Amino acid sequence: MNSILNKINYLWIYFMFMFLYPSVVFSDIAENWQLGFQDPATPIMEGIINLHHDLMFFICIISVFVSWMLGRTLWHFEYKQNSIPSSLTHGTLIEIVWTVTPAIILLIIAIPSFSLLYAMDEIISPAITIKTLGHQWYWSYEYSDYLDENNEALLYDSYMIPEEDLELGQFRLLEVDNRIVVPVNTHIRIIVSAADVLHSWAVPSLGIKCDAIPGRLNQTSLFVKREGVYYGQCSEICGINHGFMPIVVEAVSLPNYISWIANKLSE
Ligand code: CUA
Repeated sequence: MNSILNKINYLWIYFMFMFLYPSVVFSDIAENWQLGFQDPATPIMEGIINLHHDLMFFICIISVFVSWMLGRTLWHFEYKQNSIPSSLTHGTLIEIVWTVTPAIILLIIAIPSFSLLYAMDEIISPAITIKTLGHQWYWSYEYSDYLDENNEALLYDSYMIPEEDLELGQFRLLEVDNRIVVPVNTHIRIIVSAADVLHSWAVPSLGIKCDAIPGRLNQTSLFVKREGVYYGQCSEICGINHGFMPIVVEAVSLPNYISWIANKLSE
């Protein structure tokens, strides 16, 4: 009981801080007791968060209004207060109003929603194309824009680091041996597919969740605004090790990216 109370207290403090203070350090990983989003690193994720807040505005007004109406109805039409019921069964005007108003609200919501949806679908002449392939149970990444001396594309696997091999400061179930490295402020095309069963390539801070489907190429775009390490997980149940195929995206400056690519190619 005591520990539950402690948790409720903690939640309250957390809740107040969440609204009073914006985070000082970017959170690109899930936190304990997290309620909100991870911090955005792409314009798309910023759009998703803004749309969420826009919708919350309508949700708050609607919930307060509906609860108020429900309360008033229960109060005024309770059998003691209203012992002789009215025989009224229809009211054309009010029926038009309560049909048209929600329809207008839905239309208002549809405008930002559709513009975000189409923005997410847009691929703006990408400078780099990266192919990510889901396997049971790891990811593999292919940078086919660059060829090494054997004319082979850069291709490597990315496995989760098992718990016993973790070093101090590394995140359990989230760290991988080979990260996917991308440059910041560059339009990148991500091509997603799977080798065996359905997987899903998802990184919350980047606003990406793209299904990896065997025999089908899905594509999504990526434009990272700041350097950082972004953590994600496979988001489609794909077998017993579904929880053990995390994704780590490292966004670096363009010169660092070029030297990383050069190193990888000469390996
Ligand atoms: Cu791969 Cu779940």
